[in-house]
Amino acid sequence: MSPSAGRRSSRSSLPEWQAVADHARATSHLTLRDLFASDPTRAQRLAFEACGLFVDHSKQRVTEGTFPLLVRLAEACGLRDRIDAMFAGHRINTTENRAVLHVALRAPRSEHVLVDGEDVVPGVHEVLARMAAFCDRVRGGEWLGHTGKRIRAIVNIGIGGSDLGPVMAFTALRHYADRGLTFRFVSNVDGTDFAEAVRDLDPAETLFVVSSKTFTTQETLANARSARAWTLAALRDEAAIARHFVAVSTNAAEVAAFGIDTDAMFGFWDWVGGRYSMDSAIGLSTMLAIGPERFRELLDGFHAMDVHFRTADFAQNLPVLHGLLAVWNSTFLGAATIAVLPYDQYLARFPAYLQQLTMESNGKRVTLDGTVIDDYETCPIYWGEPGTNGQHSFYQLIHQGTRIIPCDFLGFVRSLNPLGRHHDLLMANCFAQAEALAFGKTADEVRADGAAESLVSHKTFPGNRPSSTILAEVLTPRLLGSLVALYEHAVFVQGAIWDVNPFDQWGVELGKVLANRIVPELEGTDEPSLGHHDPSTASLIRRYRHGRR
Ligand code: F6P
Repeated sequence: MSPSAGRRSSRSSLPEWQAVADHARATSHLTLRDLFASDPTRAQRLAFEACGLFVDHSKQRVTEGTFPLLVRLAEACGLRDRIDAMFAGHRINTTENRAVLHVALRAPRSEHVLVDGEDVVPGVHEVLARMAAFCDRVRGGEWLGHTGKRIRAIVNIGIGGSDLGPVMAFTALRHYADRGLTFRFVSNVDGTDFAEAVRDLDPAETLFVVSSKTFTTQETLANARSARAWTLAALRDEAAIARHFVAVSTNAAEVAAFGIDTDAMFGFWDWVGGRYSMDSAIGLSTMLAIGPERFRELLDGFHAMDVHFRTADFAQNLPVLHGLLAVWNSTFLGAATIAVLPYDQYLARFPAYLQQLTMESNGKRVTLDGTVIDDYETCPIYWGEPGTNGQHSFYQLIHQGTRIIPCDFLGFVRSLNPLGRHHDLLMANCFAQAEALAFGKTADEVRADGAAESLVSHKTFPGNRPSSTILAEVLTPRLLGSLVALYEHAVFVQGAIWDVNPFDQWGVELGKVLANRIVPELEGTDEPSLGHHDPSTASLIRRYRHGRR
């Protein structure tokens, strides 16, 4: 029997938790049509604004009483103390005994953030200054390749947080990028990823940024080794590595062991989680693309949201409300997923980025003290695609399926690529989808359109499907920083309510260990004894070996 068996999570026995659960039951019959009809001020009352983000929660299934009850629950769960503990550099990642200080990465020079009595802000700015000097040299054509050619292509090699943040940020901020440089991102250990990324690149003009917090990640090292071989095959001189490889890592020893000079390494710290690292040196490719000044604007946007999160009243606090709504929808209303639907092509990779941020953080089944959670649901599944593409794919299910899928719509007032009517068409679709989801179309309205009776139920939209809309003026580096920080802190809020540790990721370990055990069984020449595998896995391995031969 596990030590925690028999213990129940204390969260659900809080009176404040019960009050939210009772409220969910008591209001379950209310529809968004009712709620809007009975309160003409609802759209104003449930809209919030900070850091350039206007957030409309009025199409969520909440009444006037919902946010106050959720805020009381947050207080009862000790959210204030948890926020203060994070910003104070306490070791709140208890299972790894680490501080959690991505907020220090964007702190201005004048701030002090202490970890074990040491101010970490000067170190952050020192690395930023080194990154800036390096980026200026590459972008200015001063840093040359081994044969004297200018660097024209940057390939970031990394996975998880060492890939998703960089690729999301590059895609989002492409408008601001140096168009004379080509950027590629290689993450998958599937050789196709590397082969296709470099197919049309010239090794003499290519710089690899090997990004890995630990510098032990199997996929990243395999890709980095292939990059090394690809470079040497063309340039035929070990000395070329120094001109074509830089590393971003916390692990200087492994970087040196790989063969990259630690002078060409940009460091960060164990208090930066992988999925919270896009604003650390892991953002080197972002800085190479948009330049140090724009990168500073990105950090300023993050910082603005940090200040808001830390200081704003919970009732007006964007990340607090966002996090609480996710808890409300998933834990109390039973929604299993949340869709994130950016109406901006530049945010195409934002849902993928959010998947790691949200689900690797809060996809947990035990509380901080190790108690198994068996009386409430934790993290919902996050997913999404840019609008309007999703409309012609999975929106059917969101409108008329049997499941309730809360949505976050994201859009901008101004396009970075004004082109005829395109932007008005795009945003008309964004607003229309949220409206259709909330208010639907009744059977009587369908009949009034003259529909055949046999089709009435098919053409009826039940409505009452919740969404939030985040509207900002235009996508800038600063705005992106604030948007990402909104979700980072919302994830933190969720973790506090569910009483889980959002900063570890033990769930990724077992698969890694088993894969490392299977590698020699696939590659060896002797027939391996597969007795330690289950029959299904053993049979797959045998079949693979046989096919390879
Ligand atoms: O998937 C597990 C994980 O540890 C992530 O948390 C992390 O972002 C990713 O692997 C990559 O790790 P690293 O930066 O150490 O290569």
